[in-house]
Amino acid sequence: MEKPKITIEEMAAFCKRKGFVYPSSEIYGGISGFYDFGHLGVELKNNIKKEWWKSFVQQRDDIVGIDGSIVTHPMVWKASGHVDGFTDILVDCKKCGMRYRADTLLEDKLKIAADGMQIQEISKRIKDNKIKCQKCGSELGEPKRFNLMFTTNVGPVQSSSSAAFLRPETAQLIFANFRLVQENARLKLPFGIAQMGKAFRNEISPRDFLFRMREFEQMEIEYFVHPEKYDECPFIDDVLDYEMNILSADMQKNNKKMEKMSIKECLSKKIIKTRWHAYWLALMHKWFIDLDADSSRFRVRQHVKDELSHYALDTWDLEYEFPFGWKELQGLSNRTDFDLKQHIEHAKTDLSIFDEETKKKIIPHVICEPSQGVERAFLVFMFDAYHYDKSRDNVVMKLHPKLCPVKTGIFPLVSNKADIVKKARGVYDELKQSWACTFDLGGSIGRRYARADETGVYACVTIDHESLEDEMATVRSRDTTEQVRVKISEVKDVLRRFMEGEKLGKLGKSVE
Ligand code: GAP
Repeated sequence: MEKPKITIEEMAAFCKRKGFVYPSSEIYGGISGFYDFGHLGVELKNNIKKEWWKSFVQQRDDIVGIDGSIVTHPMVWKASGHVDGFTDILVDCKKCGMRYRADTLLEDKLKIAADGMQIQEISKRIKDNKIKCQKCGSELGEPKRFNLMFTTNVGPVQSSSSAAFLRPETAQLIFANFRLVQENARLKLPFGIAQMGKAFRNEISPRDFLFRMREFEQMEIEYFVHPEKYDECPFIDDVLDYEMNILSADMQKNNKKMEKMSIKECLSKKIIKTRWHAYWLALMHKWFIDLDADSSRFRVRQHVKDELSHYALDTWDLEYEFPFGWKELQGLSNRTDFDLKQHIEHAKTDLSIFDEETKKKIIPHVICEPSQGVERAFLVFMFDAYHYDKSRDNVVMKLHPKLCPVKTGIFPLVSNKADIVKKARGVYDELKQSWACTFDLGGSIGRRYARADETGVYACVTIDHESLEDEMATVRSRDTTEQVRVKISEVKDVLRRFMEGEKLGKLGKSVE
């Protein structure tokens, strides 16, 4: 089966055509950086979030979740550094006013990495390379800083004291609630607090479909450790042999290419500095691969010095090779005790923990903050699932069964035989109690299979004339088109086992 690389524009068109994602408020011309999820997109997005929450919250003893508010006290963002420092550098056209995010403009024009480049350097590069407005060709103004937070007003009176911000990350709510969550959930170090939900950033130039949006969702964990035990990771043995493509800051400085290495090697060569950071990188990488993402398109890349955020001691990005290049999929930062200390100082409140061992109060360190955008994960799963099948002459979306928006399609072979339709509907009514199903009567059976393949339906069940006699149905695999006959009474169990990884051929009688 061919696996062509499709462009981000082609993916956006596919998502719109099939009901995954629509440009928001398109009937009014759309609004840049905002997207709506359609009937299949919402299911896929929910499945991604469900799998993440299950893996990193429900199945762990050391992590609990919260769900904080989107509008919070403005001091939260003052303390975190976002009010003063959450900026990108923009340049605007002196004539038409068109605005550009300066680093991406340089990246596009000069094919260089410009993330973290200082304002003076950007200005020099624009002048030296005579970069002009891409829209009207006129001269560009001086680069300046632009704060990315959206503001709003709380209450009926608009004044400077009613101004508030929409949260630009979910992380700060974890720090603001740290004390209550730690006490009420009786958490002992090391432990994590997780959150998923909306984040808002007034990006200067939203682009590449879901990659850079103004409203998106994050799934984040703040993992706290004792400041004197920051390298004691009890789970490290689980990942020592795990291999990933690695690109450290040193390798970038020396123009070296990424290299496949095990976690053991990364730690022994001190490429990744702490066991906890290595553990979380491996775990997050593995989460994607276990859900059928393509490991050859993944790498972990360390931030070079200029790229580091104001709060970060060390950051590694999980990167994915998108059609527009290697880009950040998830950031994993060592945030130290920066945030807790900031909130202690600004809120004049005690956020320390009592350490039973030393009988002293300590401020825990965030040894790693895995921070994942839901929509970027959505894109990865869509790109890696997308296959074009020449013999079928249609796209087959090979999504992992845990992620399929619709897991089973139920089809009566013909639509004009009431007893066949009734029997098929009975199967549908039963299966939909357990997972998302579709019941399709429209068009030839081949057309219905093609529609199901294109939207990632993992298996189809067809009820035909013989089913009325022998109480058997045909189950067809999306990925291989293999078909088996199984007892209608056993269809649910067969599908469940098939989705859990058993071979379809072993679960029923093969259909020639
Ligand atoms: N709490 C840390 C933090 O927010 P970040 O690198 O700014 O770090 C984390 O964002 C993740 O959120 C990114 O790796 C990406 O997956 C997602 N993300 C950030 N900005 C985004 C945007 N404008 N559109 C879509 N996803 C975004």
